[in-house]
Amino acid sequence: MTTEVQAALVQLEVDGQTVAVPEGSTLLEAIRALGKDVPTLCYHPVLEPIGVCRICVVEVEGSRTLVPACIRKVEPGMRVRTDTPRVRLSRRMVAELLQSSVDTSLAPDVQRYAEEYGARPERWARFRPEGPPRPRAPKVDNELYVRDLDRCILCYRCVRVCGEEVQNSFAIAVAGRGLEARIDPGFDLPLPESACVFCGNCVAVCPTEALVPKTQFEMRRAGTWDETRQRVVTTVCPYCGVGCNLELHVQDDRIVKVTAPPDDPITRGFLCIKGRFGWTYVHAGVDPKPEMKTP
Ligand code: SF4
Ligand code: SF4
Ligand code: FES
Repeated sequence: MTTEVQAALVQLEVDGQTVAVPEGSTLLEAIRALGKDVPTLCYHPVLEPIGVCRICVVEVEGSRTLVPACIRKVEPGMRVRTDTPRVRLSRRMVAELLQSSVDTSLAPDVQRYAEEYGARPERWARFRPEGPPRPRAPKVDNELYVRDLDRCILCYRCVRVCGEEVQNSFAIAVAGRGLEARIDPGFDLPLPESACVFCGNCVAVCPTEALVPKTQFEMRRAGTWDETRQRVVTTVCPYCGVGCNLELHVQDDRIVKVTAPPDDPITRGFLCIKGRFGWTYVHAGVDPKPEMKTP
């Protein structure tokens, strides 16, 4: 006979509403248990929270500073406020700082939060009289995915996925400091010369297209990437007996990308190189459409 040990419940107050959640829960989990939400960027449901982006901050009574909801654990009797003027100002500034340092035009969450909190990134231009940094060319050093580092918000999701939380390849890390900080396999090596096994799991969790499948990157450049014309076909990967569930993103009757459902209890949205990138044989022998060729 097995005995389930139930975690003790912790009661707290969020925006005047009482909620009880298991001990060890985060404020974000307590907030979501009430059907409410706060913005998140570096948070990812299958990764350990690290609290680096600070867009999820809330006010906790008695706390001098704002606290990041994704990582702060609940305590009995806490009184939390999720949408005060101070909280909104802080979130606005996070969005502004991101938008004034990198290209977030393909980062829908950053765009949405910037609009919601009234971000004005141009306010920060006077602190950089020399103008915006010189754009860095996207790193296209393999056939499977591209690093477009001018879009990177340094959320560390990719680094955590590549390391011990998912892939255990430890192929990438953050190198450099400040505006020079970047996702790098070490010594600025091309990815094929690194420990990367091209699973693409870092690509799957990147919220900004700083890491992007090469097909998607090329179609965007050619102006042909159009999610409104895409449908998702679910299937099972044919390569091995594990049978991972796949989502084929199909545009104009051609597969343009493969992902895994993030809520799948087996894969949790992660795949190997074959499942994620080994689909081009489907179109073998068919001439690529002109707009899908590398410009
Ligand atoms: S493709 Fe896989 S192994 Fe390569 S950097 Fe990304 S997560 Fe790491
Ligand atoms: S490359 Fe993407 S996932 Fe990695 S740190 Fe930058 S924005 Fe985050
Ligand atoms: S989502 Fe909480 S700090 Fe980034």
